[in-house]
Amino acid sequence: MTDFPAALSAAAKTVEARLQAEIATLPESVVRDAMAYAAQGGKKLRGFLVLESARLHGIGPEHAVAAAAAIEAIHAYSLVHDDLPAMDDDDLRRGQPTVHVKWDEATAILTGDALQTLAFGLLALPDAAPSDAGRLALLASLAHASGGAGMVLGQALDIAAETATTPLDLTAITALQEGKTGALIEWSACAGARMAGADPAPLAAYAQALGLAFQIADDILDVEGDADLAGKRLHKDAEAGKATFVSLLGLEGAKVRARDLVAQAQSALAPYGDKADLLRDAAQFVIARKA
Ligand code: IPE
Ligand code: IPE
Ligand code: MG
Ligand code: MG
Ligand code: MG
Repeated sequence: MTDFPAALSAAAKTVEARLQAEIATLPESVVRDAMAYAAQGGKKLRGFLVLESARLHGIGPEHAVAAAAAIEAIHAYSLVHDDLPAMDDDDLRRGQPTVHVKWDEATAILTGDALQTLAFGLLALPDAAPSDAGRLALLASLAHASGGAGMVLGQALDIAAETATTPLDLTAITALQEGKTGALIEWSACAGARMAGADPAPLAAYAQALGLAFQIADDILDVEGDADLAGKRLHKDAEAGKATFVSLLGLEGAKVRARDLVAQAQSALAPYGDKADLLRDAAQFVIARKA
C-alpha cells in the first residue's frame, strides 16, 4: 500500500521550498517577486517524478531536490509565457491572477526568462546529482527537452494549430503533445536514472504513456472540469477552435484512451517491481485529477 496523495504533497513542499530559497538569493526586484509568485502552488507533479525516480535508483532528496526544483522552474516559466496575451491570453493560473495581469506583460516575459535560466543554474550546482557525469547528463537532456526540439516546439505547433486551415489529426496532435507536455514529464521521470548513470529506457516508456494520458486529461478537464478546482479558465480549447484529443476522439473515446495509457505506463515499470508502486499510483492520479 502506498499513500500517493501524502507522497505528492510532501514532495511539493520540499520542491517548492528549494525553489523559493533559490529565488530568494536573487537581488530584490519586481522580477524576483514575480518569480516567487509564479513558483507558488500547483501540483509539482514533475518535481515529484524527479524525486521518485531518484529514489528508485537509491538517490535521496539531498541529491535530487535541486533537479526537482529546476524542472518546476522550467514548468512555471512555460506557464507564465503560455498565459500571455500573445499565446493563450489567460487571466487565471493556480487560482490566482496570471503574472501579466498582476504586473504587466514585460514583467511576465522577463519572469519566464529568469525562471528558465534559474533552472539551469540549479542543475549546475554541486548537489544536483551524485556525480559530475550525472549533472552534465541532466543539463544536456533538459536543454533538449525544454527547447526547440521539445516543449517550445510543442508550444509552437499548438499555437500554429489555432490558425491551421485544416484541423490537426490524431498523429499531428500526438506529435504536438510529445513536445508541449510530454518532453518535460519524460525528463522528470528519467532524471533519477540519468543521475545514477542507469538506462532511462523503462522510465522513458512509462513517461511517454504518462505524458500522453496527462494531456488527454488536461483536454478532458478543459471540457468538463470545475474551474474553481482547476484554478484556471476552462472551455478555452473549443473557443480557440483547437483540435484536441477530445475533439478528435470524443469525450468517452478520450477517457478510454487515457485509461489504456495508464495501464501501459504502469506495465512499463515492471523492471522496478513493487518499488515503483508510487509511480504506478501517479499514473492513476494523472487521469483522476480535478486540477
Ligand atoms: C498544466 O500543467 C499545463 C500543461 C502542461 C497541460 P499542470 O497541470 O502540471 O499544472 P500545475 O503545475 O499543477 O499548476
Ligand atoms: C500548456 O498547455 C503547456 C505548457 C505550458 C508547456 P495548455 O495551454 O493546454 O495548458 P493550460 O490548459 O493553459 O494549463
Ligand atoms: Mg497553451
Ligand atoms: Mg494555456
Ligand atoms: Mg489545456
